[in-house]
Amino acid sequence: MNIKNIVLTGASRGIGESIAIKLAENGFNVFGFARNSDRLNSLVKKGQGRIFAYQVDVTKPDQIRKAYEEIETNHGPIDVLINNAGIYQGIEFYKQDINRISNIIDTNLKGALFCTRLILPYMIERKKGRIINISSVSGTRGIPLEVAYGASKHGMIGMADALAQEVKPYGVLITTICPGAVDTPLWQGDSPYHGDINEVTKPEEIAECVFYLLNQSDRTIFKRIILFPRNEWH
Ligand SMILES: NC(=O)c1ccc[n+]([C@@H]2O[C@H](COP(=O)([O-])OP(=O)(O)OC[C@H]3O[C@@H](n4cnc5c(N)ncnc54)[C@H](OP(=O)(O)O)[C@@H]3O)[C@@H](O)[C@H]2O)c1
Repeated sequence: MNIKNIVLTGASRGIGESIAIKLAENGFNVFGFARNSDRLNSLVKKGQGRIFAYQVDVTKPDQIRKAYEEIETNHGPIDVLINNAGIYQGIEFYKQDINRISNIIDTNLKGALFCTRLILPYMIERKKGRIINISSVSGTRGIPLEVAYGASKHGMIGMADALAQEVKPYGVLITTICPGAVDTPLWQGDSPYHGDINEVTKPEEIAECVFYLLNQSDRTIFKRIILFPRNEWH
């Protein structure tokens, strides 16, 4: 597949930032969505003119729609969507704040559904496109303290499994990447990583995986990739 323009949600830090830099270094245009404009602007400076910032909250369909329209008008067709934006809280479910549960589902699952739903008409019309979802090992099995997070990540896999079959006839390919622990700021705040963060997967390794996928032919479907640090098992 000839790929030029890539929309990447959650581009402002962590895995998204690494993916943005890797793809820009390799000649792709990256349209990064996130809410924090300062972080987005500092990412743009690292992008050698190939990273473009869009202040988009993925829980807001109007903001997503407007950004897609601007990109298509000013830069041409969007070839790839990477659903990466996500939030996390590790906590016993009976203690989790109801609003926090909503935020996790709204961002991780509904955000991915909205971004996907709104990009599909463009891809279906052109009979071409690739969607990569960043789910988690928490989407492949139940992990204690990750009830709402795991529900959102299982949801992403369910979405992808059903949709991949619907859109296959239109030339749209969907892959879900399910990482174990990755060394990013996700583990800061009220959910610190309790093991040795230096032992876990680096965000650059997820970026390599995405880059690999983008270089594969559209003959073959990569349905799901599960990867995790060797001191974990899932
Ligand atoms: N780190 C891990 O161990 C790990 C493991 C498996 C899967 N994952 C998944 O990988 C993805 C990236 O995580 P990360 O570790 O890189 O976390 P991170 O460092 O916290 O980055 C999360 C990104 O998502 C963006 N984001 C959050 N809410 C958003 C919203 N409503 N609209 C738009 N952007 C939003 C953040 O930007 P703003 O705050 O600027 O909006 C930020 O750029 C997530 O989906 C996460 O669940 C992470």
